[in-house]
Amino acid sequence: MKVPAKVKAPDVEVEKAQSVIFQANPGPQTDFLSASEQEVLYGGAAGGGKSYAMVADPVRYVNNPKSNMLLVRRSTEELRELISVSKDLYPKAVPGSKFLEREKTWIFPSGATLWMSYLDKDDDVQRYQGQAFNWIGFDELTQWPSAYAWNYMRSRLRTSTGTGLPLIQRATSNPGGSGHNWVKKTFIDPAPANESFWAVDHETGDTLKWPANSKFAVKNGLVGEPMLKRKFIPATLFDNPYLSEDGMYEANLLSLPEHIRRKLLDGDWDVSEGAAFPEFNRKVHVVEPFDIPDNWTKFRAADYGYSSYTGIVWIAVDPTDEKLIVYRELYVSKVLAEDLADMVLLAETGERMRYGVLDSSLWHKRGDSGPSIAERMIAKGCRWRPADRSKGSRVSGKNELHRRLQVDPDTGEPRMVFFNTCKKMIEQLPSIPLDKRNPEDVDTNSEDHLYDALRYGVMTRPQSGYFTNDTTPTSYTPSDPMMGY
Ligand SMILES: Nc1ncnc2c1ncn2[C@@H]1O[C@H](COP(=O)(O)OP(=O)(O)O)[C@@H](O)[C@H]1O
Ligand SMILES: [Mg+2]
Repeated sequence: MKVPAKVKAPDVEVEKAQSVIFQANPGPQTDFLSASEQEVLYGGAAGGGKSYAMVADPVRYVNNPKSNMLLVRRSTEELRELISVSKDLYPKAVPGSKFLEREKTWIFPSGATLWMSYLDKDDDVQRYQGQAFNWIGFDELTQWPSAYAWNYMRSRLRTSTGTGLPLIQRATSNPGGSGHNWVKKTFIDPAPANESFWAVDHETGDTLKWPANSKFAVKNGLVGEPMLKRKFIPATLFDNPYLSEDGMYEANLLSLPEHIRRKLLDGDWDVSEGAAFPEFNRKVHVVEPFDIPDNWTKFRAADYGYSSYTGIVWIAVDPTDEKLIVYRELYVSKVLAEDLADMVLLAETGERMRYGVLDSSLWHKRGDSGPSIAERMIAKGCRWRPADRSKGSRVSGKNELHRRLQVDPDTGEPRMVFFNTCKKMIEQLPSIPLDKRNPEDVDTNSEDHLYDALRYGVMTRPQSGYFTNDTTPTSYTPSDPMMGY
């Protein structure tokens, strides 16, 4: 666990008396208050100083008379809390600022304004129709169950030319809440923390591009170009010396049940309640890609679906400790068997695959007549053998995955890691819920195609050994029938 940062008394600069009141905590709070990306999420531990930073951020633009800003929370009660923080801060930081209670609007001496509003239902966005803001903030973003309001408000970001004001959309949030998943997909999954990235559509994963019907884009030759940058800045309790010096708050958070503690104290975005794999941890299980030596055993595993999804994972076995390296993934929909075979073989150019396992039902599924889906792929040179689908294989596969995710006490490392390029897998695995009726298994209504592929893969009991490259076993006999391993 990190040691709480020691903070020295801020240096007083006479000519910048403002900065004393706004002395940002070193680290992420400072990064948030100087970020230049259009959309930034400051997210993580409760008490990390996120709301404080959100109220402080508009101060960057209060000296510009054209500055028109909007800060929202989901409900009026929560908004009151934020207004009270602003009343502590603004009069000291920007002498002469006035708050109009009825309009809930700050008027700064330059003429700049900040409207503090609540935005509950999707329809509430109508309130801002026809308005233009240069800065929009959402405090506690995961409280919005869908991305609708966040995306709609992007259309309200505008400034007239020559104001020198950048367009800024800011959010803060704890993990958890009904919007946890879309927020995670929007800000956390696309790129490592603290790195700028081109914004993607959180549902399709496609980069947001300037549309051809945008006059601005046409005029500036931007059609088809990526539209805006995003960044995620993680917050932990220890970043905020105003709280962490007093161990009480930390002690209170430490006493919470594990999954809540990991959200609120560690600011961990990979936990969701009822998750089947709560032990999955980005810091432990996700690694930077490296070149995999040619002589390491490599294989692939797949779950095929035409109308839903096909998930394929490629796995290598590290001969030094028998660790599995999930180094590539494919997640596609509506791809025919022959085309899929081509895609797989192309991805594997120059690689020697020891074997591939595929859902055994694919040997039975065929059209009215003719070869099965498996046979059609094999005919194209993309070879597979059937995965273990015997009774009990779902549960034993899940148990084997748990064993793989565990940190091996001998090596101090997990028995399986994922390249950070396997984005869909890293996104889906930690959010797969347990089956409520059968906690031994995962909820099969979830996005589980890559999970199934991974399960088929680990159940082949892959080994690196030179003499154990037997590719025939399709099921295994537990050495301990009671425990299943
Ligand atoms: N830079 C700062 N200077 C002074 N107080 C701060 C600073 N950052 C945070 N705080 C204080 O720390 C406490 C927790 O911060 P808050 O913004 O409410 O956390 P969060 O929104 O992340 O839960 C608040 O009392 C806040 O006033
Ligand atoms: Mg807060």
